[in-house]
Amino acid sequence: MSNAPNAAPLEYHELSIASRDNLLTLQSHILAEASKHPGSTGAFSWILSAISLSTKVIAAKVRRARLQDVLGSAGSENVQGETQQKLDVIANEVLLRCLGGRGGVALVASEENEQPIIIQRASGHGERYCVLFDPLDGSSNIDTCAGVGTIFSILRYEGGEPEQAILQCGAKQVAAGYVLYGSSTVLVLTTGHGVSMFVLDPTIGAFLRVADALQIPQTQKIYSCNEGNRLTFEPGYQKYLDWAQQNGYSTRYSGTMVADVHRILIKGGVFLYPPTKKAPDGKLRLMYEANPMGMIIEQAGGKAFARKQRILDVQPKTLHQRTTVILGSTEEVDHVLKHLG
Ligand code: AHG
Ligand code: MN
Ligand code: MN
Repeated sequence: MSNAPNAAPLEYHELSIASRDNLLTLQSHILAEASKHPGSTGAFSWILSAISLSTKVIAAKVRRARLQDVLGSAGSENVQGETQQKLDVIANEVLLRCLGGRGGVALVASEENEQPIIIQRASGHGERYCVLFDPLDGSSNIDTCAGVGTIFSILRYEGGEPEQAILQCGAKQVAAGYVLYGSSTVLVLTTGHGVSMFVLDPTIGAFLRVADALQIPQTQKIYSCNEGNRLTFEPGYQKYLDWAQQNGYSTRYSGTMVADVHRILIKGGVFLYPPTKKAPDGKLRLMYEANPMGMIIEQAGGKAFARKQRILDVQPKTLHQRTTVILGSTEEVDHVLKHLG
């Protein structure tokens, strides 16, 4: 630094690149997005901040799970007849608690609750929203320290009875995202204008933006699927797997959708969960697993299909409806679709 008395002040662009890197928290990113919409009441930002807080709390619980003896089964089943882990129940309660007090939330719906929960029936001022979530994705992996996640989807509440109001197709989502509690805690978010990624800095308790306008690679020779079910897949999926194996593909599958899809978002490839003998309509849930992941992948320039239909165009008939999933890099999704005939 010059101490010369007459040195001119530096222009910002003259600083070194490192000093010019914009340090942005999730909160400031949300505020910057809201400022682009002059009529914004702040309700939507308020909801995203509740999700940010919830996932920080869940991340802390996940990190300390074994120390606090919250691993293993809760001894109960959810509406889908699946064993609930203690952390499924805890994560669900954290999200309900954080979202329950926020003004713009009309309804919430969770994998762990049979019916949507009405937060506010009376219409107040401004826009109101439905928030759907899978509080803990991949929870059967939790005992082994493998990655787990939270997935969320936000829809406008346009009035009417909760059970019907929530049944909107994925194309109507106003935001979608997930948090991966992996070797670091990563939050991926879209509000319909591209995809941003944030990493939780635990030392300051804030999600910091590490990527904006994220794009999925258009091609990559990787598929992610539970091949243990292969013999019960339809012939088209089996033909695709034969083709992929003859063409030098690798496979990566953890059994946590958030971890598997995040890998594909960053590195490319295709994630698929075809119909199986055990789950003839597919296993994954349309409204709070496939739709938010589908929106993120499309916003990053990829494709998301349910068999031959775009996932986001599927009209849900029930809240916990299941679906087939094929999503990822455009070229890789096309290879699968081509084999389905
Ligand atoms: P959840 O833990 O929320 O019930 O979700 C588990 C899901 C998903 O994360 C994953 O892709 C899939 O189940 C794995 O299923 P398989 O064990 O049948 O492969
Ligand atoms: Mn899940
Ligand atoms: Mn779950």
